[in-house]
Amino acid sequence: MSNIIIYGSKYGTTKKYAEELSKRIGIKAIPFEKVEDINAYDKIVYFGGLYAGGVLGMSKTLKKLNDISNKTIIIVTVGLADPTDKENINNIRNNMKIQLKKALFEKAKIFHLRGGIDYSKLNFTHKTMMSLLYKKVKNLPEEKKTVEVKAMIDTYNKKVDFVDFSCLDNIIDEIRK
Ligand SMILES: Cc1cc2nc3c(=O)[nH]c(=O)nc-3n(C[C@H](O)[C@H](O)[C@H](O)COP(=O)(O)O)c2cc1C
Repeated sequence: MSNIIIYGSKYGTTKKYAEELSKRIGIKAIPFEKVEDINAYDKIVYFGGLYAGGVLGMSKTLKKLNDISNKTIIIVTVGLADPTDKENINNIRNNMKIQLKKALFEKAKIFHLRGGIDYSKLNFTHKTMMSLLYKKVKNLPEEKKTVEVKAMIDTYNKKVDFVDFSCLDNIIDEIRK
């Protein structure tokens, strides 16, 4: 059996989760840019940071899978908004449905973790995107603010780290099934 952990991470929080999981279960973790043959693996754990609803590198990497019938696929998203909030989970999953083939979306076991952000480290494009988004949403009436919007407003221009390795336990249970 050949297993792999793959991650899509721009600023390192998703990478931290992937590498910690790798250490705990002894499966190699590599960035999605370095995957050579995705079809060579039986069990694939994909970690991706959330960027404007998209899961970084996920669709590009997983669309290369030819036959998923004998594979175990676990997808883990890492974002800033509360991953236990039902509305947030719904939004993330609805976006994932668009990014993945139907059979793959239905087969994959999906988990959601919380990452972090450090505005001093963001590149120019991301800083600009966040600033435009912030200006657009900051004066919305309270009832119109989704959890994603609230998380974004609360953390705007700050450094926050919600990484919690204890959340990997459920994923480890799923991998060992
Ligand atoms: C431009 C931009 C867009 C983002 N979009 C989302 C989003 O749609 N939902 C969310 O929960 N977090 C969003 N985030 C927060 C990231 O998902 C969070 O910082 C995550 O920990 C990043 O992972 P990384 O450090 O591995 O790149 C966004 C951050 C940036 C900079």
